[in-house]
Amino acid sequence: MIGAFLMTKQATRKQNVARDVTARNTTLLVVDDEKVNRDLTAQIFRNRGFRVFTASNASDALVLVEQEHPEVVLLDYMMPGKDGFSVLTDIKINFPDIYVIILTGRGSEQIAVTLMKAGASDYILKPFLNPDLVERVEKVLKVREVELRNRELVLERDRLLREIESWNRTLEMRVQEKTEELKKIQAEIVQTEKMSTLGYISAGMAHEIRNPLNSIGLYVQLLKGGVDDSEQVDFLEKIETEVRRIDSILRKLMDVVKRPRYHLQHVSVPEIIDSLLDLFQPRVKLHGIKVKRDYRVDPPLILADAAEIEQIFSNLFANSIEEMTEGGVLSVVLEQDHDMMHVQVADTGKGIPKEDLQKIFDPFYTTKNSGTGLGLSVVLRIVRTYNGKIEVTSEVGKGTKFTVSLPLLAVVS
Ligand SMILES: Nc1ncnc2c1ncn2[C@@H]1O[C@H](COP(=O)(O)OP(=O)(O)OP(=O)(O)O)[C@@H](O)[C@H]1O
Ligand SMILES: [Mg+2]
Repeated sequence: MIGAFLMTKQATRKQNVARDVTARNTTLLVVDDEKVNRDLTAQIFRNRGFRVFTASNASDALVLVEQEHPEVVLLDYMMPGKDGFSVLTDIKINFPDIYVIILTGRGSEQIAVTLMKAGASDYILKPFLNPDLVERVEKVLKVREVELRNRELVLERDRLLREIESWNRTLEMRVQEKTEELKKIQAEIVQTEKMSTLGYISAGMAHEIRNPLNSIGLYVQLLKGGVDDSEQVDFLEKIETEVRRIDSILRKLMDVVKRPRYHLQHVSVPEIIDSLLDLFQPRVKLHGIKVKRDYRVDPPLILADAAEIEQIFSNLFANSIEEMTEGGVLSVVLEQDHDMMHVQVADTGKGIPKEDLQKIFDPFYTTKNSGTGLGLSVVLRIVRTYNGKIEVTSEVGKGTKFTVSLPLLAVVS
């Protein structure tokens, strides 16, 4: 029992301290046209540590509200000039954080209800008892504190919700980006696997076939020496041409998986491109193709095998020209960023359907009657050798663009 009593006393003391702290930081405005009421009320609250301002009419009251921003206004409803109702609405519209307690005479309860609806926090009937007045003001202050805190929390909650939403959006975007990246990497893995299984087997076979093929070539040459009949010589020459054709296909096939003897030197990519375009000039002319060059940079020499760099671009140029037999534009753009050189080879040919874009780097994928489908496989193998990248975009009926990116400081693997 004694313990409980002590606890109650302690709690009361604590409460008083809290009340004092609230009072010291609290500004109160007393609005009353009767001086006695005004001074008395002000004194009661000053004694309790409140900062108190007083006003005898509505317009002074509104000036003080704006200047001092009191927490609570004790507002006499019946005043000459502007009535309490319009002061109340004025305060509530412009300063919703200021709480208003209306002081009104007995018999005007109906007015009080209207005022409460208009935003008053409480009403006190005159004449009032001092302790009653203080208690009501403190109650309103507490309600105000809780309501303002609540409003802050709601705002904070809304802010956090918005933040979470934006995180979610960013997260979704990043997941999507990563998924795309993963898809690309998976496609590359599939491509590499295809090249290494199919490519290795075929390249191995190609190697084996070239030996007997060489023998056929030699025997044909021997036979040619002993034959006089021009028709038979013609047949033997046809066999020779076909043997050479098979040999070139086999060599290409072997190029897909492993590099032949190579010779690293400092090469100029734009110079290689220029001399290739010269070589292609007769075919370009034949098909009425316009060549556009746009070298936006003068890139440094890179350490590479010139023959391999030639292979990349001769295959790309050949493919573009083969797609523009009725004329068009072949354009070459050269750019670079801090560590890569980018060469775009674009044509205005037939384009590649979206569903076929995945397949064009596959060995043996061709849409041409006389194609081997090995050109782009060789290109891909070489670009990768130099730790570079190749990308393609295409639109059916509009054209195709390949972008080859090579490191400026080529690290050859
Ligand atoms: N610039 C391009 N425009 C449209 N299609 C293209 C282009 N480049 C490549 N292709 C498509 O990709 C396929 C594969 O090209 P790739 O160079 O590997 O083989 P190919 O040209 O068919 O034969 P090869 O190069 O051995 O003569 C082509 O058959 C064609 O369908
Ligand atoms: Mg080709």
